[in-house]
Amino acid sequence: MDSIIVTGNGELNGQIPIAGAKNACLTLMPATLLSEEPLTLTNAPRLSDIATLSALLESLGAEVTSLADGKVLAMSSHNLTSHLAHYDIVRKMRASILVLGPLLARTGQAVVSLPGGCAIGARPVDLHLKALEAMGAELELKDGYVHAQAKGGLKGGIVDFAFASVGATENALMAATLAKGTTVLNNAAREPEIVDLADCLRAMGAQIDGDGTSTITVQGVDRLGGATHQVVTDRIELGTYMLAPAFCGGEVELLGGRIDLLAAFCEKLDAAGISVSESDNGLKVARKNGRIHAVDVTTEPFPGFPTDLQAQMMALLCTAEGTSVLEEKIFENRFMHAPELMRMGAQIDVSGGTATVTGVEKLRGAPVMATDLRASVSLILAGLAAEGETRVGRVYHLDRGYEQVVRKLSGVGAHIERVKD
Ligand code: UD1
Repeated sequence: MDSIIVTGNGELNGQIPIAGAKNACLTLMPATLLSEEPLTLTNAPRLSDIATLSALLESLGAEVTSLADGKVLAMSSHNLTSHLAHYDIVRKMRASILVLGPLLARTGQAVVSLPGGCAIGARPVDLHLKALEAMGAELELKDGYVHAQAKGGLKGGIVDFAFASVGATENALMAATLAKGTTVLNNAAREPEIVDLADCLRAMGAQIDGDGTSTITVQGVDRLGGATHQVVTDRIELGTYMLAPAFCGGEVELLGGRIDLLAAFCEKLDAAGISVSESDNGLKVARKNGRIHAVDVTTEPFPGFPTDLQAQMMALLCTAEGTSVLEEKIFENRFMHAPELMRMGAQIDVSGGTATVTGVEKLRGAPVMATDLRASVSLILAGLAAEGETRVGRVYHLDRGYEQVVRKLSGVGAHIERVKD
């Protein structure tokens, strides 16, 4: 197992290229199952989660060819040979559930392992299943698997999501493209990754309206064709690296960055004393003079403050002037980074879904343990601004969602290296 060692240093300056979105790619890839024709994704991120999903698609008979050093994924589901998504792969990554809707829509049957819980909460898939039932699917839960059937194909229906779930919206949207008739998704998620998926599906011939709003309408078609689609910028990688100069000072340009992907986050940065401006190639971020100001943050579905940036923001607020209150509204157990940050001298009081952070002058380096993807990067950022050395263990979490983190951060002057334990 590898660790990352970060030594606190001065200003960061330069440019960081932002990759295509992991979370968009993880729903765009299963869209290949909807069509016999090839689907090619450009601007794909090079991450272990993408390799896991490639293996799952290949186990179903799809071909996935990685080109241009992994930045292009050429896929074909001409010849599907299985409708079983095995536990051995699904347990590695919850997003595997996203093969359920497309498989069912294309072949009329799917057997997909239930993903189970994960470090940040129970994370059930009931909303995915209810949506497919509203389109006429017959579902049975047996031996840890969802057995789904749609004899004669899925039918258009009205889906009322009790919560605007990202994954459930994606599964239902993909399934609805091949359902007979019209499907209406009410209280749909509005994340940019949903809009990106809808753009790709439209390029394949789907008829979709209203993506990016709470009501998405899909007119089912008989078949979808092939397409080439560019994966949208990763707004979470973007927000993470926007924080690097906020921690350390200096000015960093995020290549490919867009404010519209992160408006609520940018508002909080401004309130904390960090300037964000648009440049020809993306966004420039610099720390204004003086200490970071405390700000209160509540995570919400898009367009609110993203839960996937909560850990990183908490790390920043650990050295702010004043007291910040962070409320986590999406996942019930997403403060595992707090005790690790406290090992570095942070003052944090967690009570249920609320964390109160009292800023200290400086954090001190310490050995810490990553507990999930975003928690691990928050510890690296904290280490960049801490006194002394921080060693972040269990780096495999990081490899799921951040490509070339050492290269990207050392490129702007950070003292960071990856070592074998
Ligand atoms: C996606 C993102 C993840 C992000 C999250 C929220 C991917 C691959 N992952 O996850 O990085 O943190 O959105 O922005 O895109 N829920 C249910 N029943 C369901 C589905 C969800 O109760 O059937 C609950 C979840 O437990 C959670 C909340 O709804 O508390 C939000 O989950 P959801 O929006 O579905 O997140 P994911 O799609 O899993």
